[in-house]
Amino acid sequence: MKTEFKGKHFITLQEWNKEELDTLLDVSFDLKRKYAMGIDTPYLLRKTMFLMFFEQSTRTRNSMEAGIAQLGGHANFLDTSTMQISHGESAKDTAIILSRYGHAIACRNCFWESGNKYLRGMAEHATVPIMSLQCDLYHPMQGIADLMTIKEKTETTRNLKVSIIWAYATSHKKPISVPLTQALLFPRYGMDVTLAYPEGYDLPDWAIAQAKENAEKNNGKFRITHNMEEAYKDADVVIPKNWGSWVNNQSTAVVDDLLESYRGWKCTEEMMDLASRDVMYMHALPADRGNEVVDSVIDGPHSIVYDEAENRLHTAKAVMALTMGGK
Ligand code: CP
Repeated sequence: MKTEFKGKHFITLQEWNKEELDTLLDVSFDLKRKYAMGIDTPYLLRKTMFLMFFEQSTRTRNSMEAGIAQLGGHANFLDTSTMQISHGESAKDTAIILSRYGHAIACRNCFWESGNKYLRGMAEHATVPIMSLQCDLYHPMQGIADLMTIKEKTETTRNLKVSIIWAYATSHKKPISVPLTQALLFPRYGMDVTLAYPEGYDLPDWAIAQAKENAEKNNGKFRITHNMEEAYKDADVVIPKNWGSWVNNQSTAVVDDLLESYRGWKCTEEMMDLASRDVMYMHALPADRGNEVVDSVIDGPHSIVYDEAENRLHTAKAVMALTMGGK
């Protein structure tokens, strides 16, 4: 088990090796057990972390704020529209100054082709760990919570048939970071991963190449289909979720003709009937109910979305405890 995490950045799970991820999961389960038993976990007493948000959030903000409080520390919530960033202050200056005031900086910046660069810019100059709260490419906090959820619901992840499926939605043009993170992570745990999407909603070529390499190295599988029914067929886990056509079309418009032509990509009971008998339905949330998924599925017996959302708390606490505390 790895024990040296202090100061390690958390920008993509790809930069955490298997041993590090296994420790992170182990600590997450330990924190969850202690939470269930009401045992105090004052591992970050009087530590301060900064939470910078360029976009809205429910789960990420609150799992981090509740999490640091439960670890004995304090979070400063920073709406970046009220910071000098909005007048052009650089990532470098922001990172150096916040590093002098506290013990970690976490940030959500999902702007296409600049979010990840912004986090990397902070990481280059910060003297405390930088945590991604989601960028244009990755959502590591979501990915590790999803992995924890799958691990606690299954006997083994090896050969588990997991389908990451594009779904129709109109709420906003969503980042590709959730499916991209899952596509990279799940094959590392030996899962049999199918990525399904209609033409025009590709993930970047480098990410697909990396997902395939991860599968090869870890006895997992990774394949792509443009046939929605095929992705549901015999799946053990289905994750139907919308993402935007960012790779092919950088417009921020939410609804366009391409999107409208795929209204049929919805998770319905008919689709769930194609999957394995005990299939689990997952979604990072928020879900676009009625578009991505019908209520009877997300509220039905196969749905594990609330356990998945709860695990955001336990995994966020583990990330903070390891990277801000410890040796
Ligand atoms: N899944 C997720 O990141 O949710 P929020 O956007 O509410 O943080």
